[in-house]
Amino acid sequence: MKGVILCGGAGTRLRPATYVVNKHLVPIGNYPMVLFPLNTIKSLGVNNILIITGGENIGDFAEFLGDGSQYGCNFTYKVQTKAGGIAEALGLAEDFVGIDNVMVILGDNIFGDLRSRADEILCPSIFVKAVNDAHRFGVFMDGKIIEKPKGVNEGEVVVGLYVYPPSVFKFIRTLKPSLRGELEITDVNNHFLEQNNVRVFRLNDIFWSDCGTPKSLANTTRHFLDNPDTIRPLV
Ligand code: G1P
Repeated sequence: MKGVILCGGAGTRLRPATYVVNKHLVPIGNYPMVLFPLNTIKSLGVNNILIITGGENIGDFAEFLGDGSQYGCNFTYKVQTKAGGIAEALGLAEDFVGIDNVMVILGDNIFGDLRSRADEILCPSIFVKAVNDAHRFGVFMDGKIIEKPKGVNEGEVVVGLYVYPPSVFKFIRTLKPSLRGELEITDVNNHFLEQNNVRVFRLNDIFWSDCGTPKSLANTTRHFLDNPDTIRPLV
């Protein structure tokens, strides 16, 4: 299994902070955000990891994280030259992943301890969790995913952790940009759901949050400071 962590995007909802720092290096407590998803995938046994970010930020990541040896990992870096969406970024990982399965994590997604479920997690899966602000996410309903449906509050949302077989890259090459001009990870997931090639894994008893908005960042920070053992950074 290879790992890919996606740290691209403009971080518009965290401006002006993201004018001076990449969103995924904004701290949660005293730890830059990226350390939490890195710890999540390492805790699942994945330590050969590709970090993808925009060209203007790649140096910050490389300087901060290095080659990964101090963490018992091997880090490789790749530049996403345009903000073309999550699936476009993942497509850049094709040569790195080769014939392995790949675990993909979004650099602003923070998870509680998944280690007790590691065996189940390592096969091709998408992960969902019941929330009450579902319209902010991809929502899993009637066996498929609708991206950011207006007016939907209660629902099961697709979180930013995905395990795919290497055939994902062949499919990404067939994708067309959505109305917002991006290659959508939701189109990838719907394809695998249609083909019955991924399991839907429920995380309802496990902490999960994104950090894409000031409020979700603040809530995650509060959770970390109050419960430092439930979500952990890579150290
Ligand atoms: C992305 C995905 C969405 C998913 C979310 C998880 O949205 O498009 O399906 O639910 O990540 O954080 P974004 O927050 O990047 O707009």
